[in-house]
Amino acid sequence: MRKWLLPVLITACCAYAAVMMMVSLQQDESPAEPPPSSSSASASPSAAPATTVDEAAATAIYKSSCLSCHGDQLQGQIGPNLTKVGSAMTADQIRTQIENGGGGMPGFKGTLTDDQVNTLTAWLSAKK
Ligand code: HEC
Repeated sequence: MRKWLLPVLITACCAYAAVMMMVSLQQDESPAEPPPSSSSASASPSAAPATTVDEAAATAIYKSSCLSCHGDQLQGQIGPNLTKVGSAMTADQIRTQIENGGGGMPGFKGTLTDDQVNTLTAWLSAKK
């Protein structure tokens, strides 16, 4: 065996091992991506029943008063995510939060009418 052959073989082995490691790392990462996006996509289409909630009125009030802090998809921004607020809070708690605010949120008692607060409360309570 020639003397120069050994270092060449060792270098080749190292390079091969490095490539295999990178390939296996890439394979580890890719399957982790799909689940989060598919679960968030399935959450939105289940709209609340139109019988109890005036969806159009509620979204109009939401857009002008709440969207800036809670996001255009209720996903949260300055304020918390509201997409599941109906299962985390009772209607009374939601109404109180809207009327009095707190924790960085302004109260809307003077700005919104009782009707508007009721509409928003019913709409958010149905977000489960
Ligand atoms: C200036 C920003 C801002 C605006 C505008 C705003 N919010 Fe909030 N909201 C917040 C913050 C911040 C919190 C978190 C309060 C806390 O942690 O105590 C919050 C909390 C809430 C909560 C309780 C959610 C929870 O998980 O604790 C509800 C319900 C809510 N807001 C509804 C509304 C509605 C409805 C409107 C529109 C009428 C609105 N908010 C407008 C900032 C805002």
